[in-house]
Amino acid sequence: MDNYRDTAADPLPETELPEAAASEAPGTEASEAEAPEAEAAVRILPVAELHLHIEGTLQPELIFELAERNGITLPYSGLDELRGLYEFTDLQSFLDLYYANMAVLQTEQDFADMTRAYLARAAAAGVRHAEIMMDPQAHLSRGVSLETCVNGVASALATSVKDFGISTMLIAAFLRDLSEESALEVLDGLLAMNAPIGAIGLDSAEVGNPPSKFERLFAKARQAGLRLTAHAGEEGPASYIIEALDVLGVERIDHGIRCMEDPDLVERLVADRIPLTVCPLSNVRLRVVDTLADHPLPAMLAAGLNVSVNSDDPAYFGGYVDDNFAQLGAAFGLSEFDRARLAANSIHSSFASDERKAELVDELNRG
Ligand code: HPA
Ligand code: ZN
Repeated sequence: MDNYRDTAADPLPETELPEAAASEAPGTEASEAEAPEAEAAVRILPVAELHLHIEGTLQPELIFELAERNGITLPYSGLDELRGLYEFTDLQSFLDLYYANMAVLQTEQDFADMTRAYLARAAAAGVRHAEIMMDPQAHLSRGVSLETCVNGVASALATSVKDFGISTMLIAAFLRDLSEESALEVLDGLLAMNAPIGAIGLDSAEVGNPPSKFERLFAKARQAGLRLTAHAGEEGPASYIIEALDVLGVERIDHGIRCMEDPDLVERLVADRIPLTVCPLSNVRLRVVDTLADHPLPAMLAAGLNVSVNSDDPAYFGGYVDDNFAQLGAAFGLSEFDRARLAANSIHSSFASDERKAELVDELNRG
């Protein structure tokens, strides 16, 4: 289980990780895992969150608050009824609720409030750099303009270092179940308004919407100087990961866990140090794996893959990055070495500047 030490190229933390400097962060809700007694003593590591949909951070309470503020009548009698719907059978069953709840996001202030709530909670989870996806097409289709959604999120990100100690990048994610023409039109709009985005991504219903459908979109984004990532190998097959790399030229794969079905692909991903932004609690909630104990993360680490731990849609899947780490620890007894490796991978796999990465690696090593 330790053979990934030999293949891992990134520098490891040099010293033993010190004991818990930060324990349970203020304001965090109890994790859903059986709380192991040692949990309070586990140090929260500084990490980069690389796979996070800002719309998936809308907590039920905020959904009701924004509905009231905007005079929207929700089709739920209250928080309990809404929470009762968070039982998903697959990706689509989640997406249906995720898109429906976006109805409460109407004004720049709404987008800014949602983003600030995420940043506050992420800071407590140890996140020091966040690359945040948003779904502009899901707002445009409801009559909310690009300016409203982009400027709202961006206004919160503009002060995230000062307010939360979190550096950020905004990623425009495109809905793969819509046409490439729609995506190209929205990318043109983002470029025309000089939107403060650093990358594009590809999300939504995966099966039947292969990466190759978006070849022109990714070529255009690359030409515009944007970094490239795409969801692949979540519900879709390993071949979608190969397509995302070869046809779209992405630098990173979101999820990617189904690579484990193709040993040649695993070998390639290891050799090329391709980052896989894994989201364990998401995979359980969307039934991509049966239980956390069945998750391939330990096997992925053992294979030498460049994996990081991320929260995807934390308001829907039962936890933020710290919860993902805690529940992985409860399921697998992650060693300090594994935890530090996962944190280091997240930092090195980010699109942050070399200077910012060095700061974060320093913080990780300092303890
Ligand atoms: N997969 C695909 N699309 C998404 C997800 C996800 O987990 N979350 C939000 N959009
Ligand atoms: Zn995702």
